[in-house]
Amino acid sequence: MSSSRLHTPSSSHSPADPAPSSDSSSLAHHEQQQQQQQQTPTIPVLGASDEWSPLRAVIVGCAEHSVFPSEPEHMITATMPAQHQRHFRPGHVFSHEITAAATAELNHFAGVLQDAGIRVYRPRQVDWLAVGGYTGAMPRDGLMVVGNTLIEAPFAWRCRRDEIRLAYGGILDELMRDDNDHNDHNDDDDDHPGAKQHAARICRAPTIIGKDTIYDDPKNSQWAINDSRPAFDAADFMRFGQTVLGQLSHVTNEKGVSYLRALLPPGHTLELVQVTDPHAMHIDATILPLRRGLLIYNPDRVTEAALRRHAVLRDWELHPYPFVPKARADGPPSYMCSPWLVLNALSLDEKRIVVEQDDVEFADWLRTRFGMEPILVPFRHVHSIGGSFHCATVDLVRGEEE
Ligand code: ARG
Repeated sequence: MSSSRLHTPSSSHSPADPAPSSDSSSLAHHEQQQQQQQQTPTIPVLGASDEWSPLRAVIVGCAEHSVFPSEPEHMITATMPAQHQRHFRPGHVFSHEITAAATAELNHFAGVLQDAGIRVYRPRQVDWLAVGGYTGAMPRDGLMVVGNTLIEAPFAWRCRRDEIRLAYGGILDELMRDDNDHNDHNDDDDDHPGAKQHAARICRAPTIIGKDTIYDDPKNSQWAINDSRPAFDAADFMRFGQTVLGQLSHVTNEKGVSYLRALLPPGHTLELVQVTDPHAMHIDATILPLRRGLLIYNPDRVTEAALRRHAVLRDWELHPYPFVPKARADGPPSYMCSPWLVLNALSLDEKRIVVEQDDVEFADWLRTRFGMEPILVPFRHVHSIGGSFHCATVDLVRGEEE
């Protein structure tokens, strides 16, 4: 990985840099630049091995033009709150009030992250109604980084098939370009001059040609999809070092798990957690690692015994969330999520964690019980569109600066 480093924004070239005028000054300039490069901390283009090391680069979603996802009825009844299921029909847009407020919340959240020194990428706006899609606000479902590898999820949902290409394709190109550029510059230093080293790896999802069979008579009636082709949502998985933990769900099947396993960088393993969630879809309201050795979990959906089965958690402190999160009567409707969305927080490091500003009980518990430093940010309108801080982001780089 050492050959591909990007400089943090503070070290980037300004157009006002004086142009070198002669050979000797050019050399001096070059040396000076090299010195600067050695002094400024650098971060890789892609690199994340867990959920709690210091966040350095992240994608934050966009809510403009979000539309209620439309999928076969049995998928919606399996995964969405009963009282809101009538909304999930083709062409039903979220109200302007919700998307406008969600956009403001996402922009504010992106600013909070930037102020914390984190590099933030934002997707392109897409007219989701015109393309029969859903939203650009939930990138965690479609992209995941493991080590130096960014993996695009082969979504089960038809309405999400083009989401990554349309909204995030530009970011993926930019990441590859940055990786290439940097390696071009470093060609001289390579052991094999001229041989480009790609420190970053991007795996795009396969394209489905012809009829999608994923909803045909599900063999295993526990889930809304069958196992006829690989399908997973990236939010069904989390990184714990060399081990990725995940779950089967209404959007993740066995073939999807094998497919993901095959794409993980060398040395990584993928283990499935035995959850007891009949509505399973995304594991990020079921478990929340706060730091190395400390995880909180949703006791309605998973047991301590099931978590202990995984060697990587064997000597961890595992704490059930002790309160019953309640649906709020005030504010925008939670069309797509249960009150357990409270656990969908985003760690900035092993102390700081972004929590919804109304989740005061949760924030107090994290502070008093574990010495965490919650950062309270408003996000209720983003919740209406499908998730909270963890769902609305993709960690690109986590780790100590070098
Ligand atoms: N299914 C979870 C719940 O309702 C919400 C998970 C949302 N996560 C996401 N990545 N979109 O509790």
